[in-house]
Amino acid sequence: MTNKLAILGGKPISVKKLVKPSPIGKPEINAVMRVLNKGILSKAGRGENVKTFEREFAQFHNLKYAITTTSGTTALHTAICALNIKKGDEILVPDLTFVSSASVFLQQQATPIFVDIDTTTFCIDTADMEKKITEKTKAIIVVHLYGHPVEINTIIKIAKKHNLKIIEDCAQSHGAKYKGQYVGTFGDIACFSFYQTKNLTCGEGGMVLTNNEKLFKSCSSIVDHGLIDGNLQGYDYDRLGYNYHMTEIQAAIGIEQLKKLKRMNKQRANNANKYKKILKDTGLIFQDDNKNIDHVYYALTALLPEKFKNKRDWFVDAARTEGVEINKIYPKPLHEAKLFSSFGKKNQCPNASNITTRLFNFYTNPGVTDNYIKLTCEAVKKVLNYLNDKK
Ligand SMILES: Cc1ncc(COP(=O)(O)O)c(C=O)c1O
Repeated sequence: MTNKLAILGGKPISVKKLVKPSPIGKPEINAVMRVLNKGILSKAGRGENVKTFEREFAQFHNLKYAITTTSGTTALHTAICALNIKKGDEILVPDLTFVSSASVFLQQQATPIFVDIDTTTFCIDTADMEKKITEKTKAIIVVHLYGHPVEINTIIKIAKKHNLKIIEDCAQSHGAKYKGQYVGTFGDIACFSFYQTKNLTCGEGGMVLTNNEKLFKSCSSIVDHGLIDGNLQGYDYDRLGYNYHMTEIQAAIGIEQLKKLKRMNKQRANNANKYKKILKDTGLIFQDDNKNIDHVYYALTALLPEKFKNKRDWFVDAARTEGVEINKIYPKPLHEAKLFSSFGKKNQCPNASNITTRLFNFYTNPGVTDNYIKLTCEAVKKVLNYLNDKK
C-alpha cells in the first residue's frame, strides 16, 4: 500500500519552488548596471557588448564568426535565409523537438520532412533520415536534444554523400561535446537560444555560429534589414532582411553567463546524476549518456515503462499535485501538430509517437538543491508505486 496521493485527496509532499529560475548573480547585475549607467543600449548606438559577446562566443567554440539575434528562432531563420532555403526545398527535421526547429522552414515556404528518433538518444535516427532523402532534399537540421549531442559523424557522412547542408540546432546544448568537440562546430551553421530556461540565458536572445565567411556576411546583413556591407550611413539594402538585433543589456548578461557556462553545465549534469541515482530501481528509462559525449542536461528526460503508456498525463498531473515541477517536453511529435498537418502522415515516425506518450522531464537548473531533488524523487516514486499497486 502507498500513501494516499495528493491528487486523490492525500497530503502533498510539497517541494519548495526553485530558489532562482535562472542562475543570475552579481556579475550579471553589475554588467547590466554598467550598460544602463553608460546609456548606450544598442550596438548601432556605438555599444560594445554585442560585439564582445559575438567575439567571445566564437572564440569559445574556436570558430571565426558569431552573429547575435533576438531569439533562437530568429537565429534559425537567419541561418536558413543565409543558406538560401526556399520554396520547394525539403528539409529533414527530427520529429521530437521544439516547434521552431521546423516552423522556420514554413517561413521560407520550404517543406519540413519529419524524421523518426532513436529510441535511446531521443535524437534524430540516422537510418530513417537517409531513407527520407529525395532529389529535393537540401538540408538536415539536427537538434542536440535536452543537451545530448547527436551521432554527428554518421550525419556528416550522409550529408557529404547526398550534398546536403547541416544546420545544428544547439538551443538546448550550449557547451555540449561530441568526442571532445563542441556541438555547433560540426555543421555548416549552428544556432543557439538564450531563452530563460537555457543552459546560457539572457532572457531572450540567440546566436548564429559559422566558420564560413560568406554565410557570416549574409547573416550580418539579414539581421540588419538587408543592409549592404554593414554601412549604416549608406541606408542601402540588397536583400530582404529583418530587425533581429540583440540589445546591449542582453549581450552584457550573455558575456557573464558565458564565463560560467562550464560550471553551470557541470551543476546540471551533477543534478541529473543525483536524480538518476535515487530513481535507479524504479523502472524509469533515462535518456542515453555515454563516454563519447559531454551531455549538458538542459533537462533530464525519462520514459515511463511501456505498460504505463496511456497514463503519462495523469502521472505528471499526480506528481505535480504533490508539489513537484516535472513537465513534458514535448508531449506529442511535431508531425501530429495541426500546424504541420499537410506534411505529416499518420504513424510516419513510430518511435517518436510512442516515446512522446511516455516521456517527462526533471529540472536540472543550477538553482536546484539536493533537498529539491530528494523530494521530487519521493513524489515521483509515490505516484509510480500507486500505479504499480493498481496493476
Ligand atoms: C530545440 C529548440 N530549437 C529552437 C528553439 C527556439 O529558441 P527561442 O525560444 O529562443 O526562439 C528552442 C527554444 O525553446 C529549442 O528548444
